[in-house]
Amino acid sequence: MSTPDEPLSAGSVAVVLGTRPELVKLAEPVRLLGPAARVLHTGQHYDGAMSQDVLAGLGMPEPEYLAGVGGRPRAVQIATALEGLDARFADRLPRAVVVQGDTNAALSGALAANARDIPLVHVEAGLRSHDRAMPEEHNRVVIDRLADVLCAATPDNRSLLLAEGTPDQRISVTGNTVVEAVHHHRPRAGTCAEVLARHALERDGYVLATIHRPENTDDPAVLAAVLEELAGLARELPVVLPLHPRTRVRAEQAGLRPLLADIRCIAPVDYASFLALAGDAAVLISDSGGVQEESTVLGRPLVCVRRSTERPEALAEFAELVPPGPRIGAAVRRRLAEGAAGLRRLASLPSPFGDGRASRRIVDLIARAARREDAVPGPPVERGARRTGPVRRPAAA
Ligand code: UD1
Repeated sequence: MSTPDEPLSAGSVAVVLGTRPELVKLAEPVRLLGPAARVLHTGQHYDGAMSQDVLAGLGMPEPEYLAGVGGRPRAVQIATALEGLDARFADRLPRAVVVQGDTNAALSGALAANARDIPLVHVEAGLRSHDRAMPEEHNRVVIDRLADVLCAATPDNRSLLLAEGTPDQRISVTGNTVVEAVHHHRPRAGTCAEVLARHALERDGYVLATIHRPENTDDPAVLAAVLEELAGLARELPVVLPLHPRTRVRAEQAGLRPLLADIRCIAPVDYASFLALAGDAAVLISDSGGVQEESTVLGRPLVCVRRSTERPEALAEFAELVPPGPRIGAAVRRRLAEGAAGLRRLASLPSPFGDGRASRRIVDLIARAARREDAVPGPPVERGARRTGPVRRPAAA
C-alpha cells in the first residue's frame, strides 16, 4: 500500500489526448507527473505540423499512438479511439485517467475510463457555450457528467457546474494550464524579434489570424466571407494566417485560392513560434478556444469569429465576438485605432484564466484521485457498484 507522500508508480496515470491544443495544455501537468504519466495519443491530429512537431517543441515524452482515428467521421473517431484505449487499459489498468477540454479524443478517454471504473480527472471542466451546434459543447457536457474530479479554470466555470447539479466536492477551481504554457513557451524578446524578422514583420504592425472551426470553414459562402475580410485587411497591413489543414482543404475545394493571394499563408507553426507571432501582433483574429485564453496572457486584442463562446471571461477587456463578414474588418480597425495606448492598457491587465499555478494544483488532484484507495480507508466498492463518493476505488495494482 502506498502512502500519500510516495511517488505514483511509473505509467500509472493515463493522459489521453489527440489534438494540438491538448498537447499544449497538458504538457506542464505531464512534466510534473514525471514517470507516472503514460501519454496516449488517439491520432485525431496526425499531420506532423499538428502533432509530432508540436510534441517535440513542448518537450513531451513520446506517446503511445492509436491507429485508425485521424481524418475519420466524428463517430468513428470516438468509437475507434474508445476501442483502442480500452484494449490498452485492459492490458495495464491505470489508476487515474486525465483528459482535457472538449475534443473527440477527450470524450473517448472519458468513456474508456468510465467503462473500466477508473477515476476520471477532467482538466478545463465547466465550460459551456450553450451552442448545441458545436460538437465540442456535447463532448464537454458528457465528459463533465462522467468526471470524478472536475478542474474548473475559473469561479464561473465552477458556478455553471454547480447549477447543473454537479456535487461541490468533485469540483476544484484550479486556473487554466494555458497561463503557464504561455509563460513557459513564449520565447525571449530577442528570439521573438528573430521570428518576426523571418516573416518580414514588425512588432505591433501586423494581424495574426487562425481559422479552423467547421462553422467558419465548411460552408463555402461563410469561408469566403471570412477570407474576404482577411484579404481586405491585407491591403492595409500584413495579415499572417497559419493554415489549419481543415481550412486549407476547404478553401481549395471551394475554389477560394485567389482570396489567399494577398494573405501571408504559412504552415501551422510550433507553439513557441506561434506565441512569438501572437505576442507582437497588433490584433489577433481567431475562432479558436485556446487563442481566446492566450490573448489575455499575452495582453493582445482579439477579434473572435464566433457566434458564441464558452470563455466569456475573455470578452470583458480582450476579445469581441463577431460573425463572419464585414464586422471582422470593422472590429480590427477599431482596435488598430486604439494604437500603442490601447496595447499598453491590455498588457497591464491580469489574465482572468489563472495565476500560472494550475498545473501544480491539477497534479495534486490527480495524485489524490489515483491514491484514493490509500487516502480514504473504507469498505471496498464492488466493481460496477453505484458510486456514492466523488471517486471510485481504482482496481489497479
Ligand atoms: C479539433 C477539435 C477542436 C479543436 C481543434 C484544434 C473536436 C470535435 N474538435 O478540431 O475542438 O479546437 O481540433 O485544431 O475534437 N486534419 C488533417 N490533419 C491533421 C488534423 C486534421 O488533415 O493533423 C483534417 C481532418 O482529416 C479533417 C479536418 O482536418 O478533415 C478536421 O480535423 P478534426 O480532427 O475533425 O477536427 P479539428 O477541426 O482539428
